[in-house]
Amino acid sequence: MDTQVGIVGAGPAGLLLSHLLAADGIESVVLDARSRASIETTVRAGVLEDHVAELLRSSGVGERMDAEGSVHHGVELRFAGRGHRIDFNELTEGRSIVLYGQHEVVKDLNAARTAAGGDVRWETETTQVTGVLDGTPTLHHRSGPFTDELRMQRSGDVSELTCEVVAGCDGYWGPSRRAIPEALRTEYERQYPFAWFGILVEGPPSSDELIYALHDNGFALVSTRSPTVQRMYLQVDPDDHVDNWPDERIWEELHTRVRSETGSDVVEGRIFDKGIIGMRSFVCEPMQYGNLYLAGDAAHIVPPTGAKGMNLAVADVRVLHRGLVERFRTGSTDILDRYSEVCLRRAWKAQRFSWWMTSMLHRFPGNDPFQLRVQQAELDYITGSRAGSTSLAENYVGLPLEIPSAAPAT
Ligand code: PHB
Repeated sequence: MDTQVGIVGAGPAGLLLSHLLAADGIESVVLDARSRASIETTVRAGVLEDHVAELLRSSGVGERMDAEGSVHHGVELRFAGRGHRIDFNELTEGRSIVLYGQHEVVKDLNAARTAAGGDVRWETETTQVTGVLDGTPTLHHRSGPFTDELRMQRSGDVSELTCEVVAGCDGYWGPSRRAIPEALRTEYERQYPFAWFGILVEGPPSSDELIYALHDNGFALVSTRSPTVQRMYLQVDPDDHVDNWPDERIWEELHTRVRSETGSDVVEGRIFDKGIIGMRSFVCEPMQYGNLYLAGDAAHIVPPTGAKGMNLAVADVRVLHRGLVERFRTGSTDILDRYSEVCLRRAWKAQRFSWWMTSMLHRFPGNDPFQLRVQQAELDYITGSRAGSTSLAENYVGLPLEIPSAAPAT
């Protein structure tokens, strides 16, 4: 056996798992086809549920998050020209979220793994996962360098890494999920008829809290990364292209969709990054097969409106970590046996929330008048009712975690 846990994917799920396992004396090797620089600079979402922020702190990787991220106690929903605050503090007994970029979390985890002598192998592509049901779990892999999109310049022969357990943290496109026979997995999928155009802006924040805005022209989101870097999004057509959006058009559209009688307008700055992000819901059931456990995007994708992607990955990793500790300490697989069931319960609730937020806050092609009225009523209800606001707030800050505890030793 080359290592105890073979982890495919050096994104937040894979790195966090490796980091947590190391603290319990469990060895792992992390493989990722991408380069360290590419993973550390790919811009993703940036909202951390409070349990995620707390875990990063308690496991020793929260220092920069606390220095550079910001704690938010609410969000604003803006529609029909008016803003409505959802007050997390009041509705969820003082809970909050932390705004801190996912790739910053990745940098912090990489730094911690590297400092601890952890074995993270970048530019090492896993081509196949075998032996997870019976036999020896094996990661077949080869080394780059190769570019992310076109794995053209593959070099080196395929090598094998043997382990006791495989954690598939390799995202939607990774090979881990395919190690579950097709006949034994069910995949649920939904495409949305729009995408998000995202920008990064050098400049001051437009508002103290995130603004989710719905306008006749479509959705817009005002978010932040730091006191000097802002993140904003516009709903666009999925076939739209970055070249169609010169800076002036972006600002005009953001002003149009966000401006209101009661609240702040967006503050312009220097746009230094533009990209189009697709919107999809996806769940794979089950999330485990033999000695293979899927975590994060390998098992489920949510549209970004609920800001749940990384949070859900971290929730998976917490359950998997607990189960692996129990297995390697006592030989019991009681927790691991329930891994898929426990994680899917949370994943489906996050799917529901993300789908609901997305449906409530976007314009759908065709502008069906009945649907528009129902959408307005929904926003009116959610912002006007304490029960409605609480439902949004408790999902946004994160539903209670279910982490099975180890059975007492007998
Ligand atoms: C982000 O800051 O990138 C962000 C925030 C909230 C979302 C999605 C993305 O719902």
